[in-house]
Amino acid sequence: MRILAIETSCDETAASVVENGRRVLSCVVASQIKQHSEYGGVVPEISSRMHVENIVSVVKKAIDCCEMTFDSLDAISVTYGPGLIGSLLVGLGFAKGLSFATGLPLIPVHHLRSHVAANYIAYPELTPPFICLVVSGGHSSIIQVLDYTSFNVIGKTCDDAVGETFDKVARVLGLPYPGGVNLDKISKTGDKLKFTFPKPKTSTSEHDFSFSGLKTSAINKINTEKQKGNKISVPDFAASFCYSTTDYISEKFLKAAKKFGYSKLVIAGGVSANSHLREKLKMECKKKSYKLYTPPIDLCTDNAAMVGSQAYYEFLRKNIANFDLNAHANIDIANLV
Ligand code: KG4
Ligand code: ZN
Repeated sequence: MRILAIETSCDETAASVVENGRRVLSCVVASQIKQHSEYGGVVPEISSRMHVENIVSVVKKAIDCCEMTFDSLDAISVTYGPGLIGSLLVGLGFAKGLSFATGLPLIPVHHLRSHVAANYIAYPELTPPFICLVVSGGHSSIIQVLDYTSFNVIGKTCDDAVGETFDKVARVLGLPYPGGVNLDKISKTGDKLKFTFPKPKTSTSEHDFSFSGLKTSAINKINTEKQKGNKISVPDFAASFCYSTTDYISEKFLKAAKKFGYSKLVIAGGVSANSHLREKLKMECKKKSYKLYTPPIDLCTDNAAMVGSQAYYEFLRKNIANFDLNAHANIDIANLV
């Protein structure tokens, strides 16, 4: 079964053709980094407009480069949330139009479900159940993946998402947008023990996260040094901040894996590209004889191949949309709307 997938939930216009959920026939991503960099972050209005500008050529390229036609496709899939509402609506409207014109079924895909599915592409042997750490620009959760379309959230952030935190700290340090990846890059030459940060505490579940204290502490440290006229070492600060944050995340994830009895651990989402997080988890999982799955870097951040992968499993569970399907800024991964 060949599925055309469309993803426009944030700042990447992406389309892909995926066969049977696991084989990527094409994967096209039009990035908007240039347009958003002068503002230091994603501007939703610009993002929606860029999706409108790019979507036709991106989808056409995804179909043409694997020499497909609509006759050789079996379904159209699209991210319908969570994400920026204006951005989601562009992809959804376009996908609905294609589905109506071609008569192909329309498969709605939850954005975080698709991040998890990025791992199915990279690891043909990977099947649920497993425990997954989903860390992105908008989400930070520990999730039991009971089956391809059955999820249970056991921990989530009480305030900011980790990606958002990395982006903010990078911006205050004067690093260019996109912050997270540049913070990671510059941290490679820094001393991770130079600065220390308080370990966050949460009053909710022991599996929940909190990043706002870490973020505030980092920003205060940078501003205090600036006010004193001291020059902060950006590589050292970046290394220390990445190290403290990913250490905290890893500890929580490993604790949850142990408590819920999982030895198959998966990570997903943009922040799963972070070198400190990958290194720490790799080391700890090796010690504990856990099997760790990390998506390839280009499948960590937003792309449409992961949407096409998840769509296959949604289709098998008969999750087909009507034309009244709407976009949603927030949807629970376990209970779809
Ligand atoms: O999954 P994603 O592409 O979009 C959302 O669904 O939010 O994640 C984007 C987030 C951004 O906050 C970005 O800074 C972060 O992932 N990110 C990273 C790295 N690469 C991307 N954060 C830390 N280290 C990285 N290498
Ligand atoms: Zn994402």
